[in-house]
Amino acid sequence: MKTYSCVLLLSVLYGLFSCTNQTSSSSKTPLTLKEAYKDKFLIGTALNTDHTNGSEKSTTLLIEEQFNSIVAENCMKPEEVHPSENIYDFRKADQFVEYGEKHNMFIVGHTLIWHSQVPDWFFENEDGTTCSRERLIERMREHIYTVVGRYKGRIHAWDVVNEAIDDLEGLRKSKWYQIIGEDYIELAFQFAHEADPNAELYYNDYSLILSHRREEAVKLIKKLQKKEIRVDGIGMQAHYGLDYVKIPDFERSITEFSALNIKVMLTELDISVLPFPTEKISAEISQKYEMLPEFNPYTDTLPDSIQQQLAQNYVDLFKVLLKYEDKVSRVTFWGVNDEHSWRNDWPIEGRTDHPLLFDRNNQPKEAYYSIIELGEAVNNTKKQVL
Ligand code: XIL
Repeated sequence: MKTYSCVLLLSVLYGLFSCTNQTSSSSKTPLTLKEAYKDKFLIGTALNTDHTNGSEKSTTLLIEEQFNSIVAENCMKPEEVHPSENIYDFRKADQFVEYGEKHNMFIVGHTLIWHSQVPDWFFENEDGTTCSRERLIERMREHIYTVVGRYKGRIHAWDVVNEAIDDLEGLRKSKWYQIIGEDYIELAFQFAHEADPNAELYYNDYSLILSHRREEAVKLIKKLQKKEIRVDGIGMQAHYGLDYVKIPDFERSITEFSALNIKVMLTELDISVLPFPTEKISAEISQKYEMLPEFNPYTDTLPDSIQQQLAQNYVDLFKVLLKYEDKVSRVTFWGVNDEHSWRNDWPIEGRTDHPLLFDRNNQPKEAYYSIIELGEAVNNTKKQVL
């Protein structure tokens, strides 16, 4: 609370100062997210088709005003682009890439190899039995070559492997792992690099602030680096909840990952304001719980006290991100406004969540203003606020 007031005070002082300072931006035109963080890191958002086909005008305008990077929320996942072995459907993915190019955005493809949202045919023979290691490697190679190859030189970066770490220990025993073995990860990176040698390649996962997951991720990246496999960055998904993040843990993950000499980024940031129905916090999309009224308390509006708590949670994260601005390359929110957020349906379907910076009418929330003020204050006080 104290630090937040300090940031507010500084930004008020900055507002007064900038009225008399011709070289700084005018206090009358508030900065947008991408402007406030322009010298720090990219500010991204996840898009779905409604954003890129023009059917949601006000959201589209907001995207263009606020963000300089986009990631595909669903349209590049194997179940969408490659529903059966001989069928690719790139209609939505093409539209997504064209949109990003038109607006000069840093475009991220999501995701090539993951245990979710991948059709069963990848892992099966025609008779339904499990396919061989060789066959799965060949399918993986063909999939990656086709998808990455199609957008060669146009998509700037790929989430190559998603969520390969197990919730309890070691690597996740996904079908990729079971059929190919743990070298499926390096093969995926190798194929992606061959398909577009200039694209940045990332490993992406959730709950990387938990110590065992952090350690496993460090081990994984080191192993890939030892084998001279190209990995450019690590994506911390960052699907959080109110007061879920212990800041020292968050900071430790950023320092340990950046010590590996790779870029660090938040790739799917959202902070749910709703009670999480279990102690086992993750972002495993198959986690589903029954809806009970006490799990859905803010169906009409979000009380001021919760708006403030949400804002403070965002400020706490952004202070750390700013402290490591030379290590952090991008912060991407998982969605544009609360209406579209996947958190309305995960891990309980049909709730009303408020996890993002813009409400259901695309109006900025207190969390938005707090982050802008923090960015402005830091820009003008050379980090004294941190
Ligand atoms: C989510 C999408 O937001 C939903 O629309 C979809 O129904 C399920 O997947 N981790 C990831 C993302 O890497 O791809 C997931 O996206 C959220 C968790």
